Amino acid sequence: MLTKPANTWDSAASLYQECKIMDRIRIIGGTPLSGTIRISGAKNAALPLMTCGLLTDERLVLSNVAKLADLQTMAELLAQHGIAVEPTGTDGRSLSLGGAITNTEAPYDIVSKMRASILVLGALLARVGNARVSLPGGCNIGTRPVDLHLKGLEAMGAIIKLDAGYINATAPKGLHGANIVFPFVSVGATENLLMAASLAHGTTTLKNAAREPEISDLVKCLIAMGAKIEGIGSDTITIEGVPALHGAHHAILPDRIETGTYACAAAITGGDIFLENARADDLGAVIHALRDAGVIITEADNGFSVKRKNGLHGIDIVTEPFPGFPTDMQAQFMALMSVAEGASMVTETIFENRFMHVPELNRMGARINAHGSSAIIRGVSHLSGAQVMATDLRASVSLVLAGLAAQGETIISRVYHLDRGYESVEQKLAACGANIERLA
Ligand code: EPZ
Repeated sequence: MLTKPANTWDSAASLYQECKIMDRIRIIGGTPLSGTIRISGAKNAALPLMTCGLLTDERLVLSNVAKLADLQTMAELLAQHGIAVEPTGTDGRSLSLGGAITNTEAPYDIVSKMRASILVLGALLARVGNARVSLPGGCNIGTRPVDLHLKGLEAMGAIIKLDAGYINATAPKGLHGANIVFPFVSVGATENLLMAASLAHGTTTLKNAAREPEISDLVKCLIAMGAKIEGIGSDTITIEGVPALHGAHHAILPDRIETGTYACAAAITGGDIFLENARADDLGAVIHALRDAGVIITEADNGFSVKRKNGLHGIDIVTEPFPGFPTDMQAQFMALMSVAEGASMVTETIFENRFMHVPELNRMGARINAHGSSAIIRGVSHLSGAQVMATDLRASVSLVLAGLAAQGETIISRVYHLDRGYESVEQKLAACGANIERLA
């Protein structure tokens, strides 16, 4: 059992290393969870927000920062660019970023560990006019190309050459404004070009931009740093470049995917959990789906409660860009549907290979049949504990949810995936009555 939650930024790194050694989780399922879970700051907001540290020589302070392996990796990446990332404040959840850019290369060994490293490209180009960033490559859920990032930067005047697995980008005359229409929604490309455009010469318009709450959080922080941006929360964002950005303080929004994950934990165990600091508005499609499936959700001032008294019934979902059902909740919802009455269909439209959790859930007695981008789930009366393997971040947590509901013992291996995106997952679940522990 991990007994020492990281209470300082440094110990997050040692905790991460320890988690990599203690790489299995054991769950004895069957306990309805009850209690309160405090939602941490959003991983997918913190990553671009930390990158904003490259956009100014002044101090940027971020609060409500979760203790996650991916954020530690981003801190390492920024440090080798010359941006120091240090704990500040008294709660151990605030970071101070500052410094001048001394290196414009993002190396393969860091980028290959975390694809979001590509987000430094736009900021480096906008600040110093050059960058050499390793191509992120694919991951378990898909090929994950970055062509939209590169085409957008070229439209802003960047000269981009690929060689030996690296993106070599220069903007000798700086970046200039451009009218960019995304052929399809990309969160990362929207973020990269938002940061690049904030310091470009002239005005940039992003059409068919991503509207995820993490994008709005990034826009709020950039505006606090002096950027001139209109269209927050819409699919058309206009950025008027400014000569320089200054420091700011920004509180990171709560993690909507962590919120949805623990809502599914309450639902799949027939429990009753209050999600503190959760924002229901950021999860509209998920809350709608949960209610359709028979889950009772009651909103309060500082979060919402999730309870399931009677049976669940199967419903169909299709993943879509925000405000649609988020792809990052697909695996978790599939685990929930595996114990619902009747059949349900899950269609994944964002990534081409995001059903890696299916064979593992079927090992636990689920009856899921995946064909192409859709999966049919025939609900079963109960799941049975088994040895299973985590393959990616959200697949890992879907196995945790299944283990919480299953009869008997579940051992999940390769749970280092979990630590990339869920802070203190065992502690938060154990506090609600789960029989869960980390094993070496
Ligand atoms: C972000 O990834 C998130 N990651 C993902 O969360 C999330 O699943 C995804 O957005 C979709 O919401 C972070 O924010 C760090 P995209 P991103 O660009 O930006 C294709 C998690 O579990 N595409 O919106 O990489 C791409 O292959 C992670 O927390 C191109 O073809 O996603 C995908 O099929 C997983 N060319 C689709 O677009 C490009 O240039 C959406 O990708 C860019 C993307």
